[in-house]
Amino acid sequence: MTDLSAAGEFRLGDRTVNRLGYGAMQLAGPGVFGPPKDRNAALAVLRQAIASGVNHIDTSDFYGPHVTNQIIHEALHPYPDDLVIVTKVGALRGEDASWNPAMTPAELTRAVHDNLRHLSLDVLDVVNLRIMGQVHGPSEGSIEAPLTVLAELQRQGLIRHLGLSNVTSTQLKQARGIVDIVCIQNNYSLVHRHDDALIDELTALGIAYVPFFPLGGFTPLQSKTLSDVAKSLDATPMQVALTWLLRRAPNILLIPGTSSLDHLRENLAAAQLALPEGMLALLNDVGKARHPA
Ligand SMILES: NC(=O)c1ccc[n+]([C@@H]2O[C@H](COP(=O)([O-])OP(=O)(O)OC[C@H]3O[C@@H](n4cnc5c(N)ncnc54)[C@H](OP(=O)(O)O)[C@@H]3O)[C@@H](O)[C@H]2O)c1
Repeated sequence: MTDLSAAGEFRLGDRTVNRLGYGAMQLAGPGVFGPPKDRNAALAVLRQAIASGVNHIDTSDFYGPHVTNQIIHEALHPYPDDLVIVTKVGALRGEDASWNPAMTPAELTRAVHDNLRHLSLDVLDVVNLRIMGQVHGPSEGSIEAPLTVLAELQRQGLIRHLGLSNVTSTQLKQARGIVDIVCIQNNYSLVHRHDDALIDELTALGIAYVPFFPLGGFTPLQSKTLSDVAKSLDATPMQVALTWLLRRAPNILLIPGTSSLDHLRENLAAAQLALPEGMLALLNDVGKARHPA
């Protein structure tokens, strides 16, 4: 069985979590909308994740909507003491499955209460404010108004810690002037390296960086170098992509998403994959080639 501790741990708020966790978005139906094809399989993936040592799960009430949180509740409640559930607010789904900004005080407050109710929690461990500027990449602009709403909900005891998603370094600076920020969740992977400077900044600050789409998201990663390295290590490309992220910086926490038990096992086994320096250098060049300095 996989030993997740091989990948190390990192502080997330006032808790310590394994650096390899699980992203629950894929548990809803196609397009992250509606129920999954096989609800029992979704429950099994979550239970297997916990049995394998995962103690950090990423979710949102806008996955489904509501569906993913309801499945997490059904599979895992009462939750293990060491489990940190991270959720996010700032969007609502349209009836056509669209993703729409939902940043008014009333919308943010309702989102926090929806997460509490569907997860059956009195307090949310970590809430990320998801900025909707552009869908998969940040754009500049003040985040003071919505963050102040969440800071007030934190003061009221409904939220332990706050994080940000889809933000820039400037927005992080503004946020830290308002409230303590424990994690940033942005789009980043071996082939999508726009956040390299932000990651270095967060490493120095001791703030967790949690890449979304670590395996390429809706378009799984494809790279000849990745495939060649994986072959030479008798591993899979997805395992190498995850191990590369673990090596990229000590404050990176992984939440690869899957609806498959086999993929879950494969992804968690990346904790024990050793990546020799020479291969690390080859992989570093994959991102550089796509994002020349
Ligand atoms: N903050 C945000 O804006 C934001 C945006 C997107 C996602 N997220 C969070 O980040 C988490 C991770 O992102 P993600 O799930 O979208 O993308 P991802 O982890 O990059 O990739 C998931 C995709 O890869 C497939 N996959 C997973 N493991 C695999 C393997 N070993 N071999 C082959 N295919 C594999 C999955 O399909 P199968 O189900 O078939 O395995 C799924 O299609 C999400 O679950 C969510 O919690 C946050």
